[in-house]
Amino acid sequence: MAVFDTPRPRVSRLVVTGAAGVIGTALRGRLGHLAEEIVLSDLADVATEGAEISRPCDLTDLAALRALLRGGGDVLHFGGQSVEAPFERILNANLIGLYNLYEAARLEGVRRVLFASSNHAIGFHERETRLDASAPTRPDSLYGVSKVYGEAMARFYHDKFGVESLILRIGSCFPEPKDRRMLATWMSVEDMIRLIERMVRAPKLGCPIVYGASANAEQWWDNREAAYLGWTPQDSSERWRAAREAEQPDLDPDAPEVRFQGGAFCAMPHPDDAGDPS
Ligand SMILES: NC(=O)c1ccc[n+]([C@@H]2O[C@H](COP(=O)([O-])OP(=O)(O)OC[C@H]3O[C@@H](n4cnc5c(N)ncnc54)[C@H](O)[C@@H]3O)[C@@H](O)[C@H]2O)c1
Repeated sequence: MAVFDTPRPRVSRLVVTGAAGVIGTALRGRLGHLAEEIVLSDLADVATEGAEISRPCDLTDLAALRALLRGGGDVLHFGGQSVEAPFERILNANLIGLYNLYEAARLEGVRRVLFASSNHAIGFHERETRLDASAPTRPDSLYGVSKVYGEAMARFYHDKFGVESLILRIGSCFPEPKDRRMLATWMSVEDMIRLIERMVRAPKLGCPIVYGASANAEQWWDNREAAYLGWTPQDSSERWRAAREAEQPDLDPDAPEVRFQGGAFCAMPHPDDAGDPS
């Protein structure tokens, strides 16, 4: 399906939550070509570049989120708890916060959201199992469970209220892969920006699930169901392979962190037993 015959006009506003985080910081100053106004939001003010403006907002505060989204535009939702944590933190940032985000979108007329989901929503699949968008979820952590909930919320708001979402199951979006597992899961910031461009310009988005990985030599995921977006990752983790393999030469293939896609998350204790691991 060719959805780019008539690209969508430039959006007036792009709101980025989690703007002080790893991904939000990497996107700083890189989105100006996509919207008239770039609104960066996190718990506290963030530094801005060019036409960006900073609007702090706590995701647990629906009224504040409504004020943030007033004026419409698209939302890139990167805010929230981004690793395993005690349930109370997951509850506030990822369950209540995610509900508030979609409810504010519905009430303020936002029609398109990128929801930063995670590979940890499917982390207990074995690495040999090639997954596509139809694969059952198998979360590996309370954090992963919160992403499954977020994906369901995205789909519900799409099917019932017409809010489109790109559900992005991000692998590992960092400047470079940090370990051997990330040689398969790494997503470059440039490939993230290319995907955001496709999402913002697509005349019709729908509610696709996209696995967020670059064109790495080792691939666990199949994005054919989202091929209509025309996103083609271009970077590869291969140039870090020798270094990462030398750092971790002897991995036990039967260890849960090696067997399963979620890596170390699959071997973590319950966060409410272990204290705060983050
Ligand atoms: N970086 C990755 O490789 C990766 C992989 C999978 C999924 N993700 C997802 O992508 C998103 C961004 O990841 P990241 O690595 O930049 O995370 P991060 O932890 O660096 O940034 C998250 C940001 O959210 C903000 N935040 C937390 N609670 C908030 C609240 N209640 N109100 C407002 N802001 C709040 C934090 O202050 C932080 O700046 C997260 O949702 C994460 O789960 C990231």
